[in-house]
Amino acid sequence: MIEVKNVVKKFGDFTAVDNISFKVNKGEIFAFLGPNGAGKTTSIKMLTTLLKPTSGEVFLNGHNVTENPDETRKSFGIVFQDPSLDNELTAYENMQFHAILYGVKKEVYKKRIVDLLKMVELYDRKDSFVKTFSGGMKRRLEIARGLLHHPTVLFLDEPTIGLDPQTRNHIWTYINELNKKEGVTIFFTTHHMEEVERIAKRVAIIDHGKILIDGTIEEIIKKAGKESLEDAFISLTGSTIRDEKANIGKNQMRINSKLMR
Ligand SMILES: Nc1ncnc2c1ncn2[C@@H]1O[C@H](COP(=O)(O)OP(=O)(O)O)[C@@H](O)[C@H]1O
Ligand SMILES: [Mg+2]
Repeated sequence: MIEVKNVVKKFGDFTAVDNISFKVNKGEIFAFLGPNGAGKTTSIKMLTTLLKPTSGEVFLNGHNVTENPDETRKSFGIVFQDPSLDNELTAYENMQFHAILYGVKKEVYKKRIVDLLKMVELYDRKDSFVKTFSGGMKRRLEIARGLLHHPTVLFLDEPTIGLDPQTRNHIWTYINELNKKEGVTIFFTTHHMEEVERIAKRVAIIDHGKILIDGTIEEIIKKAGKESLEDAFISLTGSTIRDEKANIGKNQMRINSKLMR
């Protein structure tokens, strides 16, 4: 379903993603974990045609992402880290806009928007402006919108960031059902290890642009010689805190050199 081969992304002379390779099988729930700045969002952007890899290849649903971006775009949905809804439109209008953008036919989207808004319990608020919504409602709307064109793969970049436990629970229950009922392949990032333990089948941990480990949760815990995924995560990524400082130094240098220009 997803195949990443030796992918590198450089921003100037800074390597954000450093030769990563992995596969995600059809129907799998895959968690892509790593500390802030590890390279998760940059990787997702390359998987979803928003950024071109500096080198390497990405295949999604049989399409070469760089060679066939249009075909690729039709096969996935995405819920992004930064809210990307239009606050000045209603919930319904946001959905409609997205449907049109993705070329979903009117006779299809009319029914689907109703069904999806009902699924995320926002149908009663369909004509409210998004600017009146809470963070949780916006997230639910984004998830519904990500499903408008029945993707075979759904990308979720920190979908539950800043949400209360009730809403997080609601969202993961829904995503889990989507996977079980419709076989949608799920690729997600989060900082909440209990969410990973609850739904993910396989996990990869990335830090400083490199994949440190991948496998099932049990395999990762075992390989790291720890008791829980959280302990494994900390022991694997914790040792690089010193490098993190070096990295901050590098970032600062980049900023300084930009300022000097
Ligand atoms: N457009 C960009 N230009 C320069 N550096 C970037 C850009 N986007 C991301 N980076 C850097 O790449 C690294 C990885 O970022 P990102 O993929 O957003 O990490 P994560 O999502 O894991 O927190 C960070 O050091 C970040 O500052
Ligand atoms: Mg990110």
